[in-house]
Amino acid sequence: MDDFQPVRGMRDLLPEEAENLVSIIDKAKKTAALYGYREVITPVVESFELLNVKSGEEIRARMFVFEDLGRRKIVLRPEFTASIARLITTTLKNEPKPLRIFSVGSVYRYDEPQRGRYREFWQSNFELAGSSMPESDAEILLLTNRLMKEIGLVNYEFKLGHVGILRAILNQEGIDEQTQNAILQKMDKREFDVALELVADKKSRKTLESLINLRELESVSPNPSAIMEKIKQLVEGCEDAAKAVRNLSDILELVHKSGCQIKTVDPAFARGLEYYTGMIFEIYIPELDIAIGGGGRYDRLIEVFRGEPTPAVGVAHGLDRIALAKQMQSQMRNTVTTKSRGRKKRRVIVIPINEAMKDEAIKISELLRKAGVGTELEVMGRKMARALEDADRRKVDYTVLVGEREMKEGKVVIRNLAEREQKTVDIDNLAKILRRQK
Ligand code: HAM
Repeated sequence: MDDFQPVRGMRDLLPEEAENLVSIIDKAKKTAALYGYREVITPVVESFELLNVKSGEEIRARMFVFEDLGRRKIVLRPEFTASIARLITTTLKNEPKPLRIFSVGSVYRYDEPQRGRYREFWQSNFELAGSSMPESDAEILLLTNRLMKEIGLVNYEFKLGHVGILRAILNQEGIDEQTQNAILQKMDKREFDVALELVADKKSRKTLESLINLRELESVSPNPSAIMEKIKQLVEGCEDAAKAVRNLSDILELVHKSGCQIKTVDPAFARGLEYYTGMIFEIYIPELDIAIGGGGRYDRLIEVFRGEPTPAVGVAHGLDRIALAKQMQSQMRNTVTTKSRGRKKRRVIVIPINEAMKDEAIKISELLRKAGVGTELEVMGRKMARALEDADRRKVDYTVLVGEREMKEGKVVIRNLAEREQKTVDIDNLAKILRRQK
């Protein structure tokens, strides 16, 4: 029989990878606190119906769906937005608005595994419900910008669009919602010819075609205000589309004024999820051609879930891709920085010099931990020389040697493995000394 391996598309995150992910999670939590988002923890499984309503074909076709023992059809959550919308329509329905909700955790999609694309991945998710004002869209962009900065990513770029513009154009001639969804799906995949075919021979086809061409022009020399002007001209006569363009301009202006530069506005930009009604966006870095985050406004989802009509906007950051992005950028800059080395946690191992000193070694380890010094204990029953060899091999910073003679005087020996130095110190001062050591 072959060795057991993780299920296809799933990964084990080994200590370093896990540490990287957790440090990004910590930054997302810090950002949530800074912007007033409170964390909720929802179940990893949801009812199939909840996700089936408005996820969009892209995600619907990739959900892990199964029947539980009670014959309920359930899914592993492919995202957080539906779970949060469910909460807002039920348990949180009487909470005053705006509601700012943060979640972080693993989500599941049956994607084709490749670099940066997994079947289990992590998202940090921010939802702001109750406001349709452009400042709430701007807030979601700004907090994303803050988080990317905090994580240390450079040269990341936002791509911005507005589903309202596209839908307004398609609505003009009564193209039904299902066909509209199919058209937007194709546009999301950049299959513009197929998308245009679905529009058939209608007047909107020409406008849509011009928007698509505009997008190509834009990719050559991005200039958001110039492109906004051109979009405005193109949609003249379609009042709803013009309104959406004004909304996008307002958001852009607010964001720019707060010092976050958006270079790319793409009028033919669509996203795989069906619930979006307004501004949509994604974040990219030059080293990766897949998005490291994305979000947008969804003003009707909560209503579809039988809640009070509640406008909402949000974002999910793809934490695995962000970790990958960070790794790629630090490799490029060749800086596994001194800064991060400086911040590395110090490793201390307490070693009893013989069997009789075991309980004293445990006591000293506990004492150090209580004082906030991360401490490992030698638990392999090895002789001191072997234990030291092992500590050296594992690049431990300090060993604390617990011997009978020193203990009688209330002392232990600290050895700095890198410097090959050792000194005898009072146990009472041990934690203080270890914390001080560089
Ligand atoms: P999404 O664009 O489907 O949006 O996913 C957000 C991010 O999750 C992506 O930008 C990407 O970084 C990451 N991601 C997606 N699929 C994978 C995968 N197979 N492997 C690794 N990372 C992946 C949403 O999920 C919406 N719920 C965002 C939102 C919140 N909109 C409004 N509120």
